[in-house]
Amino acid sequence: MQKKIFIKSYGCQMNVYDSDRMLDLMKPYGYDITYEIKDASLIILNTCHIREKATEKVYSEIGKINKLKKGENYKLIIAGCVAQAEGEEIKKRAPTVNAIVGPQSYHMLPNIVSKFDKKHNTIVNTDFLTKTKFDKLQFGKPNSSSVFVTIQEGCNKFCTFCVVPYTRGAEYSRPIQDIINEINNYSKNGVKEITLLGQNVNSYHGLDTNQNERRLDYLINKISEIDSIKRIRYMTSHPTDMDKELINCHKYNDKLMPFVHLPIQTGSDKILKLMNRNYKVNEYLRIIEKLRLAKEDIALSSDFIVGFPGETDKDFDQTMRLIEKVKFSIAYSFCYSLRPGTPASNLSDQIDYKIKKERLYILQSLLKKQQKSYNEKFIGRNLEILFEKIGKHKNQFVGRSVYNQSVFMNSQKNLLGSIIKANINNTTNFALSAIPSI
Ligand code: SAH
Ligand code: SF4
Ligand code: F3S
Repeated sequence: MQKKIFIKSYGCQMNVYDSDRMLDLMKPYGYDITYEIKDASLIILNTCHIREKATEKVYSEIGKINKLKKGENYKLIIAGCVAQAEGEEIKKRAPTVNAIVGPQSYHMLPNIVSKFDKKHNTIVNTDFLTKTKFDKLQFGKPNSSSVFVTIQEGCNKFCTFCVVPYTRGAEYSRPIQDIINEINNYSKNGVKEITLLGQNVNSYHGLDTNQNERRLDYLINKISEIDSIKRIRYMTSHPTDMDKELINCHKYNDKLMPFVHLPIQTGSDKILKLMNRNYKVNEYLRIIEKLRLAKEDIALSSDFIVGFPGETDKDFDQTMRLIEKVKFSIAYSFCYSLRPGTPASNLSDQIDYKIKKERLYILQSLLKKQQKSYNEKFIGRNLEILFEKIGKHKNQFVGRSVYNQSVFMNSQKNLLGSIIKANINNTTNFALSAIPSI
């Protein structure tokens, strides 16, 4: 049987990056990608543990795979944050799984796969080997003109609702030169846009070749020296790490895109304290003000959690006022999900499911309205777009504006990998459409 590998990513972009690396690790052993589970001899589910439903989805996917591939010779690996958090539990609950491998030990994949034998014995590897992992990773040919590059991993912040510090481990920043080498490899293969990734990307403090610690602004400036890299983005940032050098980078570095994803989570100081976020609403607003002073047209995005334990109508109202004040170009919002083992799971005042759902609906309606009116302002404007993907319709291409909006455009000519100025002629709630400039 041909060695075909099927990888499904759940959760954040860091998992997307890890999935690409897993494929690159397996390629030298004769594996090639397939997008059809039925053709796969090796299936990897790269999982997310951030909210309850994410875990349940994995178990239901395992069930589906068992049914679909019954009687076939295939191997199933559970990777990612559910693997890290529930390794032994998965082994018990889903005995058909061949291996369980965490986010900081997946460089062991070739070794693990070589150990698969006919006798079923689930291999579990959830060690935290972050530095070794990065040293062992492989970086193959990119499949897009825009790629993710993980520069920082793990988290020391311990927000009381969040599993990430437990699943990804302590903060680690990759050395500057390793990152530059990886990006050079992509730039030689036609990549024009780099999105730097980290659970707290702006807490980056990697070493340069002289063993000096450098912050994110330094790294961004270094990357922008690579001629063929035209666009740089970074996510996700934490408000307490938004230093003035990074803010200034938005002012002075033309390759740094005018978009910042800066989650605030809630507009209530009382809830921010319970969440252990270490900033107040006013401090967040001050950062926004500084960002807008540095780059007038900067687009801002955020994450929100509604129904955190103890959230009253008044607290929720403060979140709504905050949203009205800032005006986000886009934002992501979730009902608080109790994660066993996190400090917030022990708080007594858990909020009723129905109330959480109601608040989420109200909040999302406002965010949707803001996104729509933000996008509508672009009708008639000329924007620079990098086209990254083929659309669903014939001759359709999908790209992104500098403000990170999705843009659709029809063209007889292949636009993939091109940065083109185009006229915005329409919007939907979530995207823009464009026609070529004359
Ligand atoms: N490091 C980033 C966020 C990473 S997790 C930051 O600090 O902002 C991505 C988002 O998932 C968070 O911003 C939060 O909004 C959401 N999230 C995390 N844990 C959650 C939980 N227990 N319930 C609901 N949403 C959660
Ligand atoms: Fe989770 Fe908080 Fe760390 Fe973000 S900063 S990953 S929300 S613990
Ligand atoms: Fe999910 Fe892990 Fe990312 S929990 S959001 S895959 S860091």
